[in-house]
Amino acid sequence: TGARVHDIAVVAGDGIGREVVPAAVRCLDLAAARHGFSFAWTEYDWGSDHYRRHGAMMPPDGLDRLHAHDAIFLGAVGAPDIPDTETLWGLLIPIRRRFSQYVNLRPVRTLPGVPSPVRGAETMDLVIVRENVEGEYSEVGGRIYRGEPAEAAIQEAVFTRTGITRVAAFAAELAAGRHGLVTSVTKSNGIVHTMPFWDEVVEQTLAGRAGVRLEKILVDAMAAKLVLAPTAFDVIVASNLFGDILSDLAGAIAGSIGVAPSANLNPERDHPSMFEPVHGSAPDIAGKGAANPVGQLWAGAMMLDHLGEPAAAADVVAAFEAVLADGVRTPDLGGTSGTAEFTDAVARHLGEAP
Ligand code: NAI
Ligand code: MG
Repeated sequence: TGARVHDIAVVAGDGIGREVVPAAVRCLDLAAARHGFSFAWTEYDWGSDHYRRHGAMMPPDGLDRLHAHDAIFLGAVGAPDIPDTETLWGLLIPIRRRFSQYVNLRPVRTLPGVPSPVRGAETMDLVIVRENVEGEYSEVGGRIYRGEPAEAAIQEAVFTRTGITRVAAFAAELAAGRHGLVTSVTKSNGIVHTMPFWDEVVEQTLAGRAGVRLEKILVDAMAAKLVLAPTAFDVIVASNLFGDILSDLAGAIAGSIGVAPSANLNPERDHPSMFEPVHGSAPDIAGKGAANPVGQLWAGAMMLDHLGEPAAAADVVAAFEAVLADGVRTPDLGGTSGTAEFTDAVARHLGEAP
């Protein structure tokens, strides 16, 4: 038998995605070499340039081509001259839905050398499990009487027993391997159909699970508690919309959007999962070589974990943490290093000859 090879689709996308993805690929290759495996990267030049040339973010057979790979490594998509609904619904959301990536996993913790704007957040260490394919982000609804006084818009949230059960079960399993606390985010006092259903199914799913405690909290109280007591959480499970908002809030408490990673998981592994930073294409700093590659590197470490390479994953995290602790920082963290200098330092920690 030959050495292990992981076959990865790479979509760098737009803006700083084209800067941080190559930086992360270089470091992931170094980690692989240290652990006796390798990557076969296939780059897809999809995103806003493709949209300008062909009127679509990816070709019609794009999803089929992605499906052949073990995982998808994504930068970011989005450009100021193209509506975000086109970029989002033309690439990201079809990938998440077609590949049933129903868990959006977002670990949030404070890193060495990344000060939090919130007092007492130094030991924050939580994971947000966001439902990623249904809920409030639905295509059910419509807009009528456009431009007339009677104009109206309706958008239906869709929650299914299957959808809630599987995301709650994932959160419970994750918590069982951590500190055993699942915080379920709800709004059952105001949203009277879907949210009581969410509460019921989460309770049923977690009932009788050894080593897992369930607490539930209203989303508005949750927003306040995250700021006032960011260390009070372990695993947070939330609907698509609530999870989206709370993960930006938690990421801000951790210090910078530039360091936050995210995994879109198909836990059954029937389809490839997708790994990306939380941040977008950052057109305001694109092309300046100033982007922080940590979010992309950390997303790469999550991909290594998913591929069954936990030792290499731990190496990548240890490498960027050591560089941050050394005081090498990009401007978003108050430093003066560019993407290249930061990445060079990480590469040296991963064994690249200077
Ligand atoms: P953004 O995350 O791109 O930028 C927000 C702010 O954070 C900017 O000031 C940016 O310079 C800074 N920032 C973000 N990542 C950074 C990094 N790695 N290093 C240093 N600074 C960083 O969010 P924004 O501006 O709202 O969106 C820009 C475009 O990206 C839009 O078209 C949006 O739709 C898209 N977007 C795409 C996402 C994705 O592909 N998953 C996620 C979020 C936004
Ligand atoms: Mg978001």
